[in-house]
Amino acid sequence: MMMGKTCSKTTPSNLLVKRGERQKARNTPAGKETNAPLGVFVLEYDASNEDIEKTRNWKPIIKIAVSGAAGMISNHLLFKIASGEVFGPDQPVALRLLGSERSQVALEGVAMELEDCLFPLLREVDLGIDAKKVFEDADWALLIGAKPRGPGMERGDLLEMNGGLFAEQGKALNEVAKKTCKVMVVGNPCNTNALICMANAPNLDRRNFHALTRLDENRAKCQLALKAGVFYETVSNVTIWGNHSTTQVPDFVNAKIGGERCTDVIDDQTWLENDFTPAIQTRGGLLIKKWGRSSAASTAVSIADAMKALVTPTKEGDWFSSAVITDGNPYGIEEGLVFSMPCRSNGDGSYEIVEGLKINDWLRERIKKSEEELSNERGCVSHLMGVEGGSCLMLEDTLLPGEM
Ligand code: LMR
Repeated sequence: MMMGKTCSKTTPSNLLVKRGERQKARNTPAGKETNAPLGVFVLEYDASNEDIEKTRNWKPIIKIAVSGAAGMISNHLLFKIASGEVFGPDQPVALRLLGSERSQVALEGVAMELEDCLFPLLREVDLGIDAKKVFEDADWALLIGAKPRGPGMERGDLLEMNGGLFAEQGKALNEVAKKTCKVMVVGNPCNTNALICMANAPNLDRRNFHALTRLDENRAKCQLALKAGVFYETVSNVTIWGNHSTTQVPDFVNAKIGGERCTDVIDDQTWLENDFTPAIQTRGGLLIKKWGRSSAASTAVSIADAMKALVTPTKEGDWFSSAVITDGNPYGIEEGLVFSMPCRSNGDGSYEIVEGLKINDWLRERIKKSEEELSNERGCVSHLMGVEGGSCLMLEDTLLPGEM
């Protein structure tokens, strides 16, 4: 898709805009295009310019593909990434934005705003509606776009509809993304969508797929801090176990406040079990009821947090929550599910599952329920994962936070 935006007036003087070349490449008849760009702008430093000093220690550029790029969540997230907030002040980025036919004009508007921000680290913005082009050579794929459940739709229908989309995107990633690409799935039902995507992208390491539960972790930290009357920063070691749905288990048993056991600081088991737990499980839905739409800004913040958690070494003794593949997990959770667990990273983009958390009967019973739910969801989408004969047993219609 060709865009004709100009940014020469607002481009810093040390940058060379290679728009003309892009324009020419685009006008080549289809089929003859070589490296035909999709995008809005490409900025390259002019080596003869004295300001080159500033960029001498920059890392090589990374490509970040974002689906649902014209939506509300992306509208908060893209600017954080482009500003350097996520990857740091020495990491130039290329944004590759995936929209749909319906959203492509809006996507141009998003790109205009990105241009107008003059973010020095933002070197390229490319737009497209074809995942196979947009995901090319991606280092990160943030899969945000998904359809919401419409009136009268069963959960199984939603799984089927969005599952098809994530199967296609998985195939596209498999074909064109870097083999090391990290995939963060946000579109709901995100755990099972991540599993479908992974099954369709066998060239990528299964451990590089994540479904977002950092939002739930942040929600849990906030409520614990408010109850304890302390600053959020002092709440640590909060795990969300399981599915990003109302069966998720926010773990107050292993959480800490100011380095002390959370249950010692908040000596109110009734509140922890009967108020705190359901409040976190259903917070997304309550927010939709009040605001009339899904959380967007806080989701974007939590995606940024989840990415930063992978590219920054985790603090000694702490961990973060991410829904990752259960293969070989130390908690006896069924293999082959995308399940939220406590993780640590050494900052190179990889993670390890933290072992040895205390799982008491209260936690075990609830973790099991979330596991069963995810196992059932997987049965319903097995045909999208290339598996024959899976059975779709939705014993209980458990809900996404937003479906209440
Ligand atoms: C949230 O937790 O806020 C969202 O996942 C809710 C939703 O269903 O969109």
